Amino acid sequence: MRVVSIVGTRPQFIKVAPISWRSRDLCEHLIINTGQHYNPELSDDFFKELNIPSPVENLYSGSGNHGEQTAKILSRTEEVLLKLTPDRVLVYGDTNSTIAATLASVKLGIKTGHVEAGLRSFNRGMPEEINRVGTDHLSDLLFAPTKAALQNLVDEGLAEKSYLVGDVMVETLNYMRNKVLTKNLTASEKIFTTIHRAENTDNKERLRFVINNLAKSPIPIHLYAHPRLVSKAKEFSIELSQGSIKVFKPASYLKTVTEILESKGVITDSGGLQKEAYILGRPCLTIRSETEWSATIESGWNELDLNLNRIRDQWWSKVGEPINESVFDGVNSSFRILELLLK
Ligand code: UD1
Repeated sequence: MRVVSIVGTRPQFIKVAPISWRSRDLCEHLIINTGQHYNPELSDDFFKELNIPSPVENLYSGSGNHGEQTAKILSRTEEVLLKLTPDRVLVYGDTNSTIAATLASVKLGIKTGHVEAGLRSFNRGMPEEINRVGTDHLSDLLFAPTKAALQNLVDEGLAEKSYLVGDVMVETLNYMRNKVLTKNLTASEKIFTTIHRAENTDNKERLRFVINNLAKSPIPIHLYAHPRLVSKAKEFSIELSQGSIKVFKPASYLKTVTEILESKGVITDSGGLQKEAYILGRPCLTIRSETEWSATIESGWNELDLNLNRIRDQWWSKVGEPINESVFDGVNSSFRILELLLK
């Protein structure tokens, strides 16, 4: 059987990796890159580092307003799917690439599976929430990473096509962690930090507030600046390198894992990083009003800190406490997905 995975952004390259490794014995697996992320440090470098074959097609869709970007990906994906004639398609996560690829695929009558289905923030103001809900309702097979995600799908009447399969990101993280752990790392005086969500970057006052508060941190903030953050800061004339903040380029996956392990904690508005911080045993402050990864909050390792109030307290002293390894299950998740998909 021919399976085509459609990805386009950094977190999707991380999610497709275990599917690509595992499919070698089970089916023909081809990757289409929509090109939503085009900076090498957000795209090409990941393919090499994660040991996955280069995409068979690059759609070079790039940036744009939501309608423009989604439409470009939709029409270019349709063209390529007509050429490749896959038996199955896999889409990943919640980006504009996900919803566009799903629309193209299901309308061509191709059986389509959604990896990381059922996540909800219940905030319709987030573009990702619209993408998730749309993708889940359109896809044929829904692969939920956690029980909470599965329950969301059941609540929306999607139980019949939904399966609890575990989390492919945990599989990738474990692969990388094994490479890193040979180095024997310890936490030092810095906080691994990323900001890229529209709700934090796209409003001048909000972005100024976030940066001003990070700058006052008593522990150095190592800010790995996403291109969206850099371009918005420039547009609003906000200096990122101020006070405690030290700015770095976006890190490769191996570097990210290494840096988290060498930090006392993480501050982020990313989804995946909240989970990675937890699994790597580092406390996290999330600059958002809600999260799709509620288990990280329930476990006591993650706090929603929209106004960065907690940055000055003892939050970071948790390093070294044990975590519950079974909260995120990454064992054979990619195999379970492929088994269900290839039926
Ligand atoms: C996208 C996803 C988000 C995901 C994130 C991971 C959507 C709606 N959002 O957000 O869910 O968490 O990827 O990083 O799909 N840019 C560059 N070079 C690049 C990519 C982006 O300069 O390679 C800049 C451009 O100014 C662009 C802006 O970043 O306009 C936003 O990029 P876009 O891909 O639209 O969204 P992300 O913020 O990356």
